[in-house]
Amino acid sequence: MADPKEAVYPADPHTTAKHHILEEYLKRWLPILAKQSQRVGGTNGRLLYVDGFAGAGEYIGNIPGSPLVAIQTALQQCQNFRVPVQIKLIELRHDRAVHLQKIVAERRSGLGNNQKLIIDDPIEGDCEAEIHKLITEHEQTRRKLGPALFFLDQFGYSSFSMDLIGRILKNDVCEVFSYLNWNLLHPFMTDQTKWVGITKAFGGEEWRKVLGLNGKQKEDLFRDVYVHALRTRAGAKFSYPFAMRDNNNRVIYWLFFCSNNIRGLEEMKKAMWQVDRSGSFEFSDKHATQHGKLFSYNEQALAAALESSLDGREMTVAEIQEYVLLNTPACNFKSALQNLERRGVLTPIKAPPSRRSCSFTDDTLRVRIAKKKACIAQQPTLFG
Ligand SMILES: C[S@@+](CC[C@H](N)C(=O)[O-])C[C@H]1O[C@@H](n2cnc3c(N)ncnc32)[C@H](O)[C@@H]1O
Repeated sequence: MADPKEAVYPADPHTTAKHHILEEYLKRWLPILAKQSQRVGGTNGRLLYVDGFAGAGEYIGNIPGSPLVAIQTALQQCQNFRVPVQIKLIELRHDRAVHLQKIVAERRSGLGNNQKLIIDDPIEGDCEAEIHKLITEHEQTRRKLGPALFFLDQFGYSSFSMDLIGRILKNDVCEVFSYLNWNLLHPFMTDQTKWVGITKAFGGEEWRKVLGLNGKQKEDLFRDVYVHALRTRAGAKFSYPFAMRDNNNRVIYWLFFCSNNIRGLEEMKKAMWQVDRSGSFEFSDKHATQHGKLFSYNEQALAAALESSLDGREMTVAEIQEYVLLNTPACNFKSALQNLERRGVLTPIKAPPSRRSCSFTDDTLRVRIAKKKACIAQQPTLFG
C-alpha cells in the first residue's frame, strides 16, 4: 500500500483515541497477567508486548506513538511485578525504524537499572515475517510465548494474514488486538488487484459475499464474516469488533480483539468504555442500540435485553456474564441481575441459605429467568 507520509507525521484524533484504548487495556492487562505469572509459574518469566506496526514512535509535536504509550504504561505499572515486562517493536520503513530506534535509546537511557522493563532494540522488518520468526524461536527452544499481547496496527487491511493470528492464538495466554481500515478498503473493493490481499487477511474467499452490497449492509456483513473467520480459522475463542465511526455514523475503522480468555474480553470492553467521548467520533460495538452508541447503554437497557432474550432459560452467573460480554455492549452486568431479581424476573435456583438477596458473587450460582407471558408486549430487542 502506498504510504506517502513523512517518517513522523501529525496524529489525527482517531489515532489518539486508539492509543487511549491501548493504554486503558494495558493498565488492566499487565497487573492481572503479572499476578497470574507469579502463581502459575513456568510462564517464561516475563510478560510480552509486541507492537507489529510500531511507526516512528511519536507524532509531530512530541505526541507519543503506540510504542511510547506502551512503554509509559508499563513503566507506571511494573515496579511491583515479580516478572518483567518485555517490549518488542517492529517497523518496516527504514526512516521510521531509525527514528524509533533513536527514541527507544533515549527512553532506555532514562530507565537506569530498572530490571522490570525490558525494551528490545526495535526491529526493522516485516511484521508477519518477524512474528513468525519469534514464534519459531520459542517453539525450537520450548519456551512459552505467552503471556503476550500482539498489537497489529496496520495502515490498511492486508499487511498480515489470518494464519499469523491463528499461529499466535495457538499459544497459551496470547491475545491479538488488530486494526482494519474500512475507509481504505471498501471504495476499492471492485479492484481485483486488491483481492489477493483481502483473501490473505481472511484466510479464504468468503468476504466476496459483500461485493454486491452497499452501505451499512456491506459494513455489517464484512465485519461479521471477518469475526467468524477469527473464530473458525484463527481459533479465537472470543473475538470482538469495535467500530470507530464518524459524524455520519459510518465506520472509519474497526479494532478486533481476540482472546481465549473471557477475562481479557471483559477488560478490553472496560477499556473501551473509558475512552474519551468528547470528539467528533465514537467507538461503538455492533450490539449497541441507537446509532450504534456504546455509551448510552445502561443497567435498565441491559436488564430489558436479558429479560427479553434469555426468557425461560436457566444459566449460571458465569454463563450470563459470557452472554453479556459477547452479545451486548455492556461489560458490567451484576446490577442488571439485581434489577431483575428485585422485579421477580430472575430467581436463584437452590441458592445456599446464607446467600443475601440480590448477591451474585458466586459465579456458579444457577438462576432462572422467567418465561414471558404471551400477553406481555415484547421488549424492544437490541438486535433489531
Ligand atoms: C498505522 S501506522 C502505526 C502507528 C503506530 N502503531 C502508532 O499507533 O503510533 C502503521 C505502521 O506500520 C508500518 N508498516 C507498514 N507495513 C508494515 C509491515 N509489513 N511490517 C511492519 N510495519 C509495517 C508503516 O510504515 C507504519 O509506520
